[in-house]
Amino acid sequence: MKKYNFNAGPSVLPDVVLQAAAKAIIDFDGTGLSLLSISHRTPEFESVVAEAKSLFRELLNIPDNYQIFFVGGGASTQFFHIPANFLGKKAGYIHTGVWTKKAIKEAKYYGEVELVASSEDKNFTYIPKDYTISEDLDYLYICANNTIYGTEYKSDIDSPVPVIADMSSNILSRPIDVSKYAVIYGGAQKNLAPAGVTFVIIRDDMLQKVVRQLPSMMNVNTHVDNNSMFNTPPVFPIYVMRETLKWLKAEGGLAEIHRRNEQKAAMLYAEIERNSLFRGTAAVEDRSSMNICFVMSEGNEELAAEFMAFAKERGMVGIKGHRLVGGFRASCYNACPVEAVEALVACMQEFEKMHA
Ligand SMILES: Cc1ncc(COP(=O)(O)O)c(C=O)c1O
Repeated sequence: MKKYNFNAGPSVLPDVVLQAAAKAIIDFDGTGLSLLSISHRTPEFESVVAEAKSLFRELLNIPDNYQIFFVGGGASTQFFHIPANFLGKKAGYIHTGVWTKKAIKEAKYYGEVELVASSEDKNFTYIPKDYTISEDLDYLYICANNTIYGTEYKSDIDSPVPVIADMSSNILSRPIDVSKYAVIYGGAQKNLAPAGVTFVIIRDDMLQKVVRQLPSMMNVNTHVDNNSMFNTPPVFPIYVMRETLKWLKAEGGLAEIHRRNEQKAAMLYAEIERNSLFRGTAAVEDRSSMNICFVMSEGNEELAAEFMAFAKERGMVGIKGHRLVGGFRASCYNACPVEAVEALVACMQEFEKMHA
């Protein structure tokens, strides 16, 4: 049976990328050696890192005064690396769910956290809009796409202080204005690669703003100065990331992937709204194009387990909502084909007919 992969992360990657990765495990770029058993300090692997960086720069239109590095530890490591480097006295956080809660907890080890705004009052179903950003903050921290609650910032925010954004689950899903951010980072295991590598895009002036003495691995300058090779980098995920970036460019870059992502999201949200058995959970203006969350409509709650089994029989994988939200979540990342969304919509329609 054909499987439709809606996993929230690690998640679907393009077939051509998986094929290239499988081949490289046997023969890495014609070297006759496996990618898994070469030194990272070889011209061949250095060129993988260089190409990944230059494709990232080209696709996201990253200005010249920004550096990119790749490092292990996952996005969760950045939750404490960011305040360790940049929180001298006080930082502002906009609280939009589990991932900002974790980031706030880590930041408090290093200084004061000002809760600039929060959507906790409505179980994180929206993105806060009315708030003032004090000029005395070291930085303002946001999570650009809330993977669990299915909410997303639809525009780049203006701020008098440096903006630091976790873009783990919407990086490269649409064009953004990088110049509005001081740091953009994320785990690569949604739109780019298997788990194991984190990308960090950092504006040059931030490299001079490190507020304390830090162990080498924690200091952002170490990774910039050593071209992501201070220690052994996550070789395999970086390779896969390069292949995904090549794929993205060949598909038409961010303008085209954004068009497809909007098409997929519009199709699924339209069905959630039309189908009397389901309802969406996120505020319409803030709902994510990547993680589409829905539940059974009022009075139909008891059909949830039946729908889950029904969808599974039709090849839907990974649509169970996060345990904190319940219901369903279809993650429609860049590599999720439109056919997968069509299949899910058809499945929802068939289920509705059975219960009409
Ligand atoms: C938005 C966001 N931030 C951070 C994380 C944590 O990432 P990691 O598991 O790489 O530490 C996740 C994981 O799903 C996420 O979705």
